[in-house]
Amino acid sequence: MSEVHTEADILFTGISQLVSPPPGLQRGAAMRAINVIPEAAMLVRGGVVAWVGPARSAPAAAHIHDLGGAAVVPGLIDPHTHAVWAGDRLSDFEARVSGVAYEDILARGGGIRRTMQATAAASTADLVRLARPRLLALQASGATTTEVKSGYGLDFAAELRMLEAVRTLQSEFALVPTLLIHVPPTSGRAEYVRAVCEELIPQVAAAGLAAAVDVFCEAEAFNVAETRTILEAARRAGLPFKLHADQFQTLGGTELACDLGALSVDHLEVSGPTQIAALAASQTVATLLPGVTLHLGLPAAPGRRLIDAGAAVAVGTDLNPGSSPVYSTQLALALAVRLNGLTPAEALSACTVNAASALGLQGRGALAPGQRADFLVLNSSDWRDVAYTLGISPVGSVYRGGLNISISRGAMP
Ligand code: NIG
Ligand code: FE
Repeated sequence: MSEVHTEADILFTGISQLVSPPPGLQRGAAMRAINVIPEAAMLVRGGVVAWVGPARSAPAAAHIHDLGGAAVVPGLIDPHTHAVWAGDRLSDFEARVSGVAYEDILARGGGIRRTMQATAAASTADLVRLARPRLLALQASGATTTEVKSGYGLDFAAELRMLEAVRTLQSEFALVPTLLIHVPPTSGRAEYVRAVCEELIPQVAAAGLAAAVDVFCEAEAFNVAETRTILEAARRAGLPFKLHADQFQTLGGTELACDLGALSVDHLEVSGPTQIAALAASQTVATLLPGVTLHLGLPAAPGRRLIDAGAAVAVGTDLNPGSSPVYSTQLALALAVRLNGLTPAEALSACTVNAASALGLQGRGALAPGQRADFLVLNSSDWRDVAYTLGISPVGSVYRGGLNISISRGAMP
């Protein structure tokens, strides 16, 4: 499938615009300070960017690959998905659009709990088979790195099967696995939290099955005290952590996560001035999930106010069957412009370098020397199409480590 030889130098030419934020976390106004090089070239060596600049100053190379006048942007990084699940939520969807609230469906034992039953009944092989087309869809939409959470296991064995499915799929995709402590059992909740802290987290950390721990801090899930206990257990196990918070209520989870040094706090649909100030004063990334606003009709997270306050904002799909059946990272980027008030340049930084930071990753997300050569060749000579186009993909080819990993469009996942 690859068109290029990765070991030798390859010079990509015919780039109308080569566009990238600088490497590393960008916050506040710096999120808009992207570099646009017109009539550019890019030298890739061993899968890593070796040089970028105007085509007229390009170095000599063993191979030349002409991209035909297209704009090039970094590969997108999707920092929040629940791409492994079984079953469906189509009845919940019908109920919701007829007026039943997402939280009420969950409180009645539906919603996430329905997906947990179907997922717990699936084998690891089933989960791999179900997740693969979803990950292919995200990749075709521009995601060259994708985070995938557990969290639909009814018991610990099912949680481990979810993480093993992600491990299997890591041979095909660049995935970052997260252990998500999603919703408590309906009885024995204190015992469950204890077992998560003393058994599950240490076991997952020892097996290297997750790169981080996440908790759903909400009225229908874990309270702030339980969340603190779980995040502290993650820290003891040597795992970074992150949080789902402020989706429906501001319970204090965002402030706690910033205080403890979380990688990111995700959702933030109902965050107010206190949460915005906490994020702006911290190193924690504020991850927006505009697909949830679209699909559940929730308020939009205050992206504009977060950036204006100096926070570092990332954007993800939150691909999952209940709150965001969004199979396109490019669409999440484009929705963040419409729903959260980001500019196209801010949205590009949010979906690249800041998403990398939200996952604790360095060395990818930007097109600059030393960064992994993950990039998108757009079906356009103007990079802004990546933020503009809805309903058809502006992403032409997807390269990871200098290799073209594009696939032809398959069936719906
Ligand atoms: O990120 N909010 C909690 N968890 C997921 C939804 C999971 C589901 O509805 O199945 C989220 O939105
Ligand atoms: Fe989520």
